[in-house]
This record gives sequence, C-alpha cells and structure tokens, in this order.
Amino acid sequence: MASIGKPRGTRDFTPEEMERRRRVETALREVFRRYGYREVATPTMEHLELFTLKSGEAIVEETYAFTDKSGRELALRPELTAPVMRFYVEQMQMEPKPLKLLYFGNCFRYDRPQAGRYREFWQMGCELIGTRTPEALAELIALAYHALRGAGLEDILLRVGDLAPLRALLDDMGVEDAAAIMRLIDKGDRAGVEGALAGRPGADTFLEYLDCAEAAALEDLVGKEQTSRLTGVLDWLSDMDTPARLDPSIARGLDYYTGIVFEIDAPALGAEKQLCGGGEYSLVPLLGGTETPTAGFALGFDRILLALEREGRAPEEKEPLVYVTPVGEDMLRPAARLAHRLRRQGLRVDMDLMRRSVSKSLQHAHRLGARHAVIVGADEWARDAVVVKNMASGEQREVAVKELAAVIW
Ligand code: HAM
Repeated sequence: MASIGKPRGTRDFTPEEMERRRRVETALREVFRRYGYREVATPTMEHLELFTLKSGEAIVEETYAFTDKSGRELALRPELTAPVMRFYVEQMQMEPKPLKLLYFGNCFRYDRPQAGRYREFWQMGCELIGTRTPEALAELIALAYHALRGAGLEDILLRVGDLAPLRALLDDMGVEDAAAIMRLIDKGDRAGVEGALAGRPGADTFLEYLDCAEAAALEDLVGKEQTSRLTGVLDWLSDMDTPARLDPSIARGLDYYTGIVFEIDAPALGAEKQLCGGGEYSLVPLLGGTETPTAGFALGFDRILLALEREGRAPEEKEPLVYVTPVGEDMLRPAARLAHRLRRQGLRVDMDLMRRSVSKSLQHAHRLGARHAVIVGADEWARDAVVVKNMASGEQREVAVKELAAVIW
C-alpha cells in the first residue's frame, strides 16, 4: 500500500518540539494569568455562518468548510474571536464587566503554506469585554507585548493605529467599498490603493495620513478630535512600559475591526513576521447580543517558536531524567519497585524495559539525556543500596536507597 502522509500545510510534532511548545505555552499563560485573564474553550468546528457573518472575504475564502451527514454547513474555525463571542452572547452576557477571556487552540486556514504560514496553526489570544477606556485598551496591548517578552523574545515591534479616522476619511471621499480599500492597505498594496482612489478629492490627504509617523502630523491632517483616542492609548502605554510606534496604516485583515488596532512583528521573520494582531471590533450585536465594547488579540503561537529560534534563544534545560538499570533479570522486580517509588516522589523516571545488558542500557540512558543512572545490582541491593552513575561525568558511587531521592533530585 502507498504510504499515507499528512495533509498539506499541517505538521507532526516530535517529543522535543512538544516540550519546547509546552514550555513557551506555559510562559505565555503565566503572563495572561497576571493580567487577570481566565481560559475558555470552544469547539473546533462551528456553523459556517459564524465566520461568513463579518470576518470578511479573505477569511471566507480561506475557510475549511464542509457539509455534515445531516446537510449542516460547518467550518473548522479559522480564528477564535467569533466563536468566543458566540459563546459570550449565549452564556456570559450577565457576567460582571470587564470580562477577560483567554483561549489557546488550533485554527485552520486554506492558505498557501510557506515558512510561518500553515493550514493548521495555533493561536493564544484573549478578548476583553465591556470597556473601551483608553487604559483598558492600553492594558490589553501591554499584555500582548509583555506576553511575547515573557516568552523570551527581545526583537519585537509594536505598532498601534486607529481605524475610526481611516474609515471617516474614506467616508468623506464617498468610497462605497471601504472594505476593499482596507484589504489593499492590509496587504501593503500601495499602488492598488492609489489606483482605487485616483482622481478622488481627498485622496492625497488619505495617502499622507497612512504615512504619518508622528502624532502632531496626524493631528494637523485630521484634527485633534479624530486623533485623541489613539494618542491617549499611546500615552497610557508609556505608563505601562510598553514601547509602541504610531502606525495609522494598520488596516487588519478581518472586517470586524472598528477602532484602535495593533500588530506586533518579529522583523527577523521576513514575510510572515506578524506575531500578533488585534484591536477593537464589533460582533456582539451581529450575533444577537446587547451592544458592549469588545477588543482582543491573538498571538500566532507557531511564529513565536520560529522567532525564538531565530533569536537563538537556547532551549531551557530539560527536567532531569533518572534511568533505572537492573543488573540481570533477577533484579527486574526490585528495579521496577524502585522506579515506581521514585516516581511517586515526583521524579521523572525511566527504566530499562527491554532486558538489555547493563552497558547497552546505559548507552540508551545516555541517548535519552538522563542525568543519573541508578544501577540495581544484587550485591548492593542486599545492603539496601544501589549504584548511582552521573551520566555527564561518568562518576559512580554506592548510595543507600533511603538517601537516593536526595542524591539524584
Ligand atoms: P489574525 O491577524 O488573522 O487575527 O491572526 C492572529 C495571528 O495568528 C497572526 O498575527 C499570525 O501570527 C497568526 N496566523 C494567522 N494565520 C496564520 C497561518 N496561516 N499560519 C500561522 N500563523 C498564522 C485574528 O485571528 C483575530 N481573531 C485576532 C483578534 C482577537 N482580534 C480581536 N480579538
């Protein structure tokens, strides 16, 4: 039979990769915990309609959709904001505000796979429900930034913008399909934007607006009223030790965004450098809920791992492993009993399960990266002792069983 591979754009993860992923996941979770976020989970599949409602054309094209055996139109989730908002509207509207929800899950997008772009990828993200004060927005953005720093990244760039003035400018120009222009901006297609707006009064101001890097220039162009929210959030961010750059050209790829938006890049990653995207959005009324402010972001978990690798962050030392080697079949039972006792004490213990010779067994312990081997031989066992071998130095010594845990911990 022909061998069966994995679907295009998906990955298998080795034990080493999973250990690394779990370590990064734990570091990220710790930062979310410190900001008061609590985890929720939603199904991997949803009704297709949840995503066609407002996520925008690009997402719909990329959605893995299928019809189930009863003719229902379902989709694998391309992101988690719409599912979490569905959950909120169904069950959590009465919760005290602000409500801080965290999630970690796999997402699916029928994208063209390349480095940093997969058809199955993971997002860790959060949604903040019930407040739109500038300090709330700044706290959310600071969390995104400090979560990435907490994972060990140093070379990251945070940019913050506001869609409200951008939309107002497009409105003033009488542009009917603002979403199409926003998509061009999001793709960085400058020529496309220029072409689409050519000849319209106000087009020059709009293009100038996109290029503004300073708050003062922004104010000159569109007035203080239109820029005060963005500059307010940036002010709060500096109180929160979060270096941010003003970038009025952030358009975001999803259509549900309404106000403050932000992105964090790892410039070293090249084309797929965006590690995080988020902002204020509106989905709750569309899903039948009572209007309430919502904002959030998602971190591209896989890209964080790529960026850590690129920055050359050495993987932390593994949890120490103890390897138990019986000397001959007579010592199998004592060795197994000892291994279980050490495990109950909390140690990570592996034992020879293939009845190998002592030297082969020690070679295997070495390959596994064990810190110590515990050799269980009849003579020492008769004295309630074992031989402990330090795998790095090769040094061996006899240790009483009751002192073993203290020696190898
Ligand atoms: P997004 O920008 O579409 O936003 O995705 C967030 C992050 O997921 C991206 O910045 C990127 O790091 C990662 N990502 C996206 N597509 C892929 C892919 N094909 N392969 C690997 N990583 C990818 C959202 O999904 C919004 N739901 C974020 C949000 C939450 N907005 C408000 N709340």
